[in-house]
Amino acid sequence: MNIVALVGSIRKESYNMQVAKMMQKRYKDKMNIKIADIRSLPHFDQDEELDPPPVVKDFKQEILAADGIIIVTPEYNWSVPGVLKNALDWTSRGERVFIGKPVMPLGASMGMIGTLRAQAHLRQILSAPGIQAKVLSPGGNEVLINFVQQKIDKNGQLDEATLTFLDSVVEKFVDLVRLK
Ligand SMILES: Cc1cc2nc3c(=O)[nH]c(=O)nc-3n(C[C@H](O)[C@H](O)[C@H](O)COP(=O)(O)O)c2cc1C
Repeated sequence: MNIVALVGSIRKESYNMQVAKMMQKRYKDKMNIKIADIRSLPHFDQDEELDPPPVVKDFKQEILAADGIIIVTPEYNWSVPGVLKNALDWTSRGERVFIGKPVMPLGASMGMIGTLRAQAHLRQILSAPGIQAKVLSPGGNEVLINFVQQKIDKNGQLDEATLTFLDSVVEKFVDLVRLK
């Protein structure tokens, strides 16, 4: 199962990137997770949507070829970071590579709300006509890692309770991808 992960933070010590990398290792027997390089994407430009720069074409091809997508994102000012929205905007125009694509959204933040508002916005974005992803249903599947700085160790490993819940949601994501 080939999965592409989009990570909404591009800072070096990103907790969300640490979570994505941990998932790469932890679930390697179930899925091959490739973390996409969304930092290299230029700003979305509608003048270029039908013939985008090569880096965008490659990114869209990666999404198109994937069996499913995992989005691991922090919350910035009660929404998704611009770098993630920019990547999603590119996928939504010209060839619409997200349509019907199984998606598992999750996120980590240092505050109490654990990216709840960002996740709500992300689900709305993923439902837009140009995207129309097949998002894992929220009931029982919202991995909102709050106070992440207290739950992750220096090796990027999450605490047991979070991992147990994450394992159960990944199982449901695998089922969703298999249904495709
Ligand atoms: C521009 C900016 C806006 C932020 N806004 C929020 C927010 O709305 N809600 C929240 O819980 N944390 C917010 N934070 C704090 C992030 O949760 C925290 O920086 C987190 O570590 C970012 O994820 P990362 O470690 O993957 O980079 C914000 C951080 C930045 C830099």
